[in-house]
Amino acid sequence: MADFAYSPVTPEVVEELRALLSPGQVTTDEEKRAAYSRDEVASCAWDRPYLAEVLVFPERTAQVSAVLRFADERRISVTPRGAGTGLSGGAVPVFGGIVLSLERMNAILEVDVDNLCITVEPGVVTSEITRAAAAAGLLYAGDPCSGDASFIGGNIAENAGGNKVIKYGSTGASVLGLEVVLADGSVTWFGGKQRKDVTGYDFVRLLVGSEGTLGVVTKAILKLVPLPERVVDLLVPFPDAASAVAVVPRIMREGGILPSSVEFMDALSVQLAERFLNRPVPHSDRAGAYLLIQIEGNDRDALADDYERIGRFCLEHGALEVFVADNRTMRDRLWKVRKNLTEAAWAFFPPEYADEDIVVPTSAIPEFLDRLGEICARHGTVSQTMGHVGDGNLHATIFFSGGTPPDWKQRLAALQRELYPIVKALGGTLTGEHGVGLKRREDVSLFLDEAQMALIRRVKLAFDPNNILNPGKIVPWTSPP
Ligand code: LAC
Ligand code: ZN
Repeated sequence: MADFAYSPVTPEVVEELRALLSPGQVTTDEEKRAAYSRDEVASCAWDRPYLAEVLVFPERTAQVSAVLRFADERRISVTPRGAGTGLSGGAVPVFGGIVLSLERMNAILEVDVDNLCITVEPGVVTSEITRAAAAAGLLYAGDPCSGDASFIGGNIAENAGGNKVIKYGSTGASVLGLEVVLADGSVTWFGGKQRKDVTGYDFVRLLVGSEGTLGVVTKAILKLVPLPERVVDLLVPFPDAASAVAVVPRIMREGGILPSSVEFMDALSVQLAERFLNRPVPHSDRAGAYLLIQIEGNDRDALADDYERIGRFCLEHGALEVFVADNRTMRDRLWKVRKNLTEAAWAFFPPEYADEDIVVPTSAIPEFLDRLGEICARHGTVSQTMGHVGDGNLHATIFFSGGTPPDWKQRLAALQRELYPIVKALGGTLTGEHGVGLKRREDVSLFLDEAQMALIRRVKLAFDPNNILNPGKIVPWTSPP
């Protein structure tokens, strides 16, 4: 097993970085370092504080390359960073060192309408890509809930999923090509505008979701598709979670319609969102769970047929009501609720919680929810459960109902030790879109066998022999000092 030690960032190192970039692109300001050393995981999740020693803000690929070449020679760890909206500690600098922010590389370089693609730098906010595509009559289908704040570079690093995966896939499904700076500073392109490419290994797929451990993405070519002219959202309350999730596969199988989103919210989620946004959500007093179903198309009458069919189908299968949002204002209101569920939980729950990102095959969701409920009750906890039920990805924010006990971390870990084997037995996995990062690294080995763990380490060392890129993530073999 390799042994890695990192060099400290001395004043001399800082001076050299300033010379490589420019003085305004390097800072050791302590407040700023603290802000750039965290993501959206509550800091109480970590056993110790983590702090970057220096922050760098490159503006071009050549500068990223110069920083990596220098850090590799000096054996200084480098943690690439997007907007910091991550939920797994992926951007937390476990070994201090350099935090490399991509925020100044934020240009949309080209919208290529003939080849249906857009070329962007990693620091572009996701929703700006959606807007630029829409202005050209096209759709960028990546739609993470944090899309108004997250950067595309972070979406690629974590293979962010979100709300439209059932129809369009996760971020990776839209990635055609990546310009990547490797750990030794060399710059290469994986993929490109071409839609087919079996010339060599599929490094694009490998880089997507590699959490900044294999290279730093400095440009991305993303696939665009025709923008549907009309979109309708249905908010459908059900008496309980079981009846809501049971209807999901049937919409597609028996209804013959592939929605662009099928989101699930339990009653607690909707109550919290109402409080958080200080605005009523159309709801039913008898609802135990809700589905938010989105369908799209170009033909008004055909779309109306589709949503009436889905509505009727839901009512025949236990739905209490069907609220139709067919104009922009109503639709935005519903999605504001959905996209603020995590913020609502942060506002009203204590920060000591577990937030899960598990995935199970959609047919196993009812059983998973039963088992989750049973385990939570036995451990004196409550779960706010919501997520992307159309693709089997559920978020459960689990907290202690009777106040947080002092040994909360151990107790949540004990709960997870019961929950994860069930997820695995149901054919599911540990994380669908938030990533392993720092948060889930101890649990990976339950889901990946030894051969695969060893392979991950060999691939990591093939890309990054000195282990300088985001060390301590996914399958670490060295612990922070
Ligand atoms: C969501 C984030 C938590 O789905 O992934 O809201
Ligand atoms: Zn999500």
